[in-house]
Amino acid sequence: MEVKAIERLIKISQEHPLMPETYIPWHEEPKTEEIFLPEVLTSLQGLEIYNSLTTAQKLELGRHELVQVIASYAWGECMFCLFMTRHMLTLPQDDVEHRFLRRELIEEFRHQEMFMQAIAKIDGSPLPQSRTHKFIGGFSNKYLPADYLFMGSVSVELVTDVYGNYTRRNPQVYQVLRKMFDLHNIEEGRHILFTKALLERYSSKAGYIKRTLYSYVILMNIYFIRTMYVKKEIFERIGIENPDKVYKLAYNNFKQKFADNCLKDIIEFVDTWKGFNRTTRWAWRCVLGAKV
Ligand SMILES: [Fe+2]
Ligand SMILES: [Fe+2]
Repeated sequence: MEVKAIERLIKISQEHPLMPETYIPWHEEPKTEEIFLPEVLTSLQGLEIYNSLTTAQKLELGRHELVQVIASYAWGECMFCLFMTRHMLTLPQDDVEHRFLRRELIEEFRHQEMFMQAIAKIDGSPLPQSRTHKFIGGFSNKYLPADYLFMGSVSVELVTDVYGNYTRRNPQVYQVLRKMFDLHNIEEGRHILFTKALLERYSSKAGYIKRTLYSYVILMNIYFIRTMYVKKEIFERIGIENPDKVYKLAYNNFKQKFADNCLKDIIEFVDTWKGFNRTTRWAWRCVLGAKV
């Protein structure tokens, strides 16, 4: 990406900041007919058991799962902020990349604040990340080189963007959440542009092994976020019998739905730098159920 183009992104961020405090109509309460998460994104829709749930249970399922999703974003973004801060220390302060990342950090912190405010607004109580998630997240953040972390971050951004699009475009969804995803979509759009351009530099120089490794890093990142959404405790909370059994069904159901609905953009991205090859393709199919 040319310096001029990055300068433009910085200028937009400075001159047109989107403040969650004023952009989102926090005073609006959910209306009786409004939902929290489009049904297609809930883990049980599509299974037989979903039809046996009452309307109230379906609504609660969407609320709890939405809370889980945005709490995971907030956590992931917080971790990415840590990496960006460390990475910035390796750059000159007047470097254009340094200046863009400063703007990105400001926005990412606002997003975290916004996500947590939304959770409070819908009375959510997110479940903490599992020990494995915490370990892998912390480890990769600390030890992976910058290009791998940017690869990971853009993959998460692309997937969460799709998720946000489903929500913000569905008029049935509670207004506060739609506006929240709107704001996130606009600012993340700029982050994605920047990160993709940055990665073009890395991937154009990458040979077979490096492209394979990049592909695996992305795959693991997507697997990582997908497994933070579906939780057995949520089924217990909404009074479903046999939560263990239902969890297994939901896990597989969601894996398939996630593959069908959320992977298109990221697959296109990986394809642009030939990240699918004999070493990676099988894993994408197996782990993510992707049609590659
Ligand atoms: Fe964000
Ligand atoms: Fe971002």
